[in-house]
Amino acid sequence: MIFNQIKIKLFSINSVFIISVFLLGSLISPAEPTSSGDHSHPFVELDNCCPRCKPSPEARKNLSLHGLTSPPSPSTSSPPPRPSCEVWTEACSEAVLSFAKLPENMEWLKTVRRRIHEHPELAFEEFETSRLVRDELDRLDIGYRFPLAKTGIRAWIGTGSPPFVAVRADMDALPIQEAVEWEHKSKVAGKMHACGHDAHVAMLIGAAKILKSREHLLKGTVILLFQPAEEAGNGAKRMIGDGALEDVEAIFAAHVSHEHPTGVIGSRAGPLLAGCGFFRAVISGTTGQAERPPISTDPVLAAAAAVISLQGIVSRESNPLDSQVVSVTAFNGGDDLGMIPNTVVLGGTFRAFSNTSFYRILQRIEEVIVEQASVYRCSATVDFFKNQNTIYPPTVNDEKMHEHVTKVAVDLLGPTNFRVVPPMMGAEDFSFYSEVIPAGFFYIGIRNETLGSTHTGHSPYFFIDEDVLPIGAATHATIAERYLNERSRVITDG
Ligand SMILES: *[C@@H]1O[C@H](CO)[C@@H](O)[C@H](O)[C@H]1NC(C)=O
Ligand SMILES: *[C@@H]1O[C@H](CO)[C@@H](O)[C@H](O)[C@H]1NC(C)=O
Ligand SMILES: *[C@@H]1O[C@H](CO)[C@@H](O)[C@H](O)[C@H]1NC(C)=O
Ligand SMILES: [Zn+2]
Ligand SMILES: [Zn+2]
Repeated sequence: MIFNQIKIKLFSINSVFIISVFLLGSLISPAEPTSSGDHSHPFVELDNCCPRCKPSPEARKNLSLHGLTSPPSPSTSSPPPRPSCEVWTEACSEAVLSFAKLPENMEWLKTVRRRIHEHPELAFEEFETSRLVRDELDRLDIGYRFPLAKTGIRAWIGTGSPPFVAVRADMDALPIQEAVEWEHKSKVAGKMHACGHDAHVAMLIGAAKILKSREHLLKGTVILLFQPAEEAGNGAKRMIGDGALEDVEAIFAAHVSHEHPTGVIGSRAGPLLAGCGFFRAVISGTTGQAERPPISTDPVLAAAAAVISLQGIVSRESNPLDSQVVSVTAFNGGDDLGMIPNTVVLGGTFRAFSNTSFYRILQRIEEVIVEQASVYRCSATVDFFKNQNTIYPPTVNDEKMHEHVTKVAVDLLGPTNFRVVPPMMGAEDFSFYSEVIPAGFFYIGIRNETLGSTHTGHSPYFFIDEDVLPIGAATHATIAERYLNERSRVITDG
């Protein structure tokens, strides 16, 4: 996610624009199947609603990951009755959660997360992280398409037929030096998983294992998206361009949060995270000696008028119940106190929670600056850095997808472990998916005072309670499986 702490420096007119963004937050390997016939089901004998039952010997072979084997199957004891999960019940939720929490799965998830944590990679450089994900998918016998957006992966589990539902994890780290002294501290100087994307990847790989073990129960196809460059570079936009959302009708994602105790889910319907954009305007006049104003056209006065008028966009034109911000943060003109300068450079940032407001502000910033410049006989151009990928639309949760997340969280983790949260001014490139199809984004708590996992994302002290990993994996898996299950019943029932 991208937070409020976006730092922009604007030097002189010919200057470089530097932005560092802090968030709280193709093409083919095996061909993607189009029918269930293309799929082998190595885990068919794994009891998917009963974690005590075990897979067939063939299936068992590759349950062994990182040398961690599943316990032997209790061949003598008869299996307890299994919920079919045709209709989702409490027993199904319990089965998923207890499978995720099996000690060997817990250990495996920690190992995966720690390996990623020790080797953080920045936006579009997630080569080793992506390789690690593909290795795990290979071991789980899960097919995928690679690369999308340079290092991204689109994996699939299920029938290969519609409906398709997607879950996404981001893979990139931040240019931050880790300040936490612990056994698995980042081994790369100046880089750190300070936003928890290492945990996001581990949780999605965990969900992959759960879903693979339940593949014969899936009533459609789950798409797992491992995405580069969330913190910078609009990885989501490139993923979409490379076909990440082909056939997909709904998408979900989680972000770890130090604001909620470990395993507590928080979300809201509608706008959750702000849209975020930056602008830089060049107002051009004609230079001249300051004691003889009529020989010049004065861009300083034009820029000053523009700054005042920009304040009216929020205060006079916007619905006061729809939070918005326009801030001018840079104003650079000449450096000769006796001369009217040729140009003035203005810059700033804007935020909004609705798509309409966000793009309306963008348009009005341009109009106001250009028109105000013309009042004072100057001209102006406004740049929103669209090519540098610094525009993030608002992240908006679809009502139905939000309901789905709520229901899954409450049934899986209990009503006290779900919270409705207020919107936040941070931004997240998940918004690009939420612009295209119905989406559900939620937080999952990692706060544990004992462990010291109480620091915000993008802090060098950021730390995670790893107990979140199986909970996140189970939540992702259940969100996807239940979505397909309930969707197919809607379709069959007409
Ligand atoms: C299972 O995975 C291991 C590596 O984890 C590999 O050596 C072995 O060949 C695999 N077995 C099968 C049957 O794919
Ligand atoms: C948001 O607005 C932009 C520009 O008007 C448009 O391209 C996009 O499709 C809109 N997204 C949604 C979800 O309405
Ligand atoms: C915090 O972590 C410690 C150590 O892992 C654990 O014993 C404790 O139960 C955790 N507390 C919460 C509230 O999760
Ligand atoms: Zn972040
Ligand atoms: Zn993040």
